[in-house]
Amino acid sequence: MFASFKSIGSYIPEKKLTNFDLEKIVDTSDEWIKKRTGIKVRHIANHDQATSDLAYEAAKIAIKRANIDKNDIDAIILATISPDYLCMPSTACIVADKLGIKNIMAFDISAACSGFVYSLSIAKSFIESGLKKNVLVIGAEKLSAITNYKDRGTCVIFGDGAGAAVIGKTEDKNEAILDVMASSDGKYSDLLITPGGGSKYPASNETLKKEMHFMRMAGNETFKIAVKTLTEDVIEILRRNNLTSSDVDRFIPHQANYRIIEYVRNKLDFPKNKTVLTVAKYGNTSAASIPMAINDAYENNNLKYGDLMLLDTFGGGLTWGSALVRFALK
Ligand code: ACO
Repeated sequence: MFASFKSIGSYIPEKKLTNFDLEKIVDTSDEWIKKRTGIKVRHIANHDQATSDLAYEAAKIAIKRANIDKNDIDAIILATISPDYLCMPSTACIVADKLGIKNIMAFDISAACSGFVYSLSIAKSFIESGLKKNVLVIGAEKLSAITNYKDRGTCVIFGDGAGAAVIGKTEDKNEAILDVMASSDGKYSDLLITPGGGSKYPASNETLKKEMHFMRMAGNETFKIAVKTLTEDVIEILRRNNLTSSDVDRFIPHQANYRIIEYVRNKLDFPKNKTVLTVAKYGNTSAASIPMAINDAYENNNLKYGDLMLLDTFGGGLTWGSALVRFALK
């Protein structure tokens, strides 16, 4: 028996934040942002929308497309770095309540942009061990809530959104999640950090004054490690599954920066028409980035039943991971 990627759904908030809008807020330009990141637009949630609201919308679509009753879901794993509440309750519990699903395991995981791939790894183990039958996996972010719109090094990159998938079981290897790799190196924890509000620097007037509740990023250092791990990851997962890049139908990397994707794509020999690119229109939506990209490919008829997807991610922690997944939505 194998774990299987049964469906996909996503939610993109209506409100757009363009490079030209950002020009009015910080010292930047449309030209710089496009050249250095490839991003043109990102979407921003309304003030009254929390991460759980974005997640709920994506989840409804994923459940419908999986063609199962919501009560057949027996676990929800939600990856986010912008939870509704800092410590508790988990955003997964709130989404379960919004969906009207009771008495199931529901929890959040924190692995920044790698959160969706990390969650897939957990869901795969739950299904293959027989512990769970249908796991709803969600990546959802309202990054605008933790972005400092005075910091041009971060605010031009991040956007909001959510993606969700139902992971079920199959006897058919052509519908299987073949492999997931997930890793980390805490030595680099300072490169991407939201320093204030946790047990290290509890919320205080001082942390507020120093704006420690916003994300901080050492962009250039992060960039250099990202291209390395993203490339090495793919080489390793293909090697251990006796595959080559030509066996992959869709390369779906984390949408952080077009230059990172281009570097990795060229290094690994993935043609552009097999690479899913959404960074220009959504920016970097952290844990939501990969499921949003999968959904985009599906809705644009660039992904069909049986296609082999190679997911490749990288984020704060530092964390990274990759996955070889057959798309099993008919
Ligand atoms: N507009 C104009 N100029 C800018 C901007 C901006 N928005 N941001 C930085 N600059 C300037 C800098 O001040 C610097 O100026 P200087 O040369 O006069 O000192 C110059 O541009 C170059 O700065 P770098 O930081 O070296 O720019 P870089 O080319 O590295 O691009 C970026 C910055 C886009 C952040 C890039 O480093 C990047 O994408 N990093 C990786 C991000 C990532 O993958 N994060 C992981 C996932 S996110 C997560 O897990 C939540």
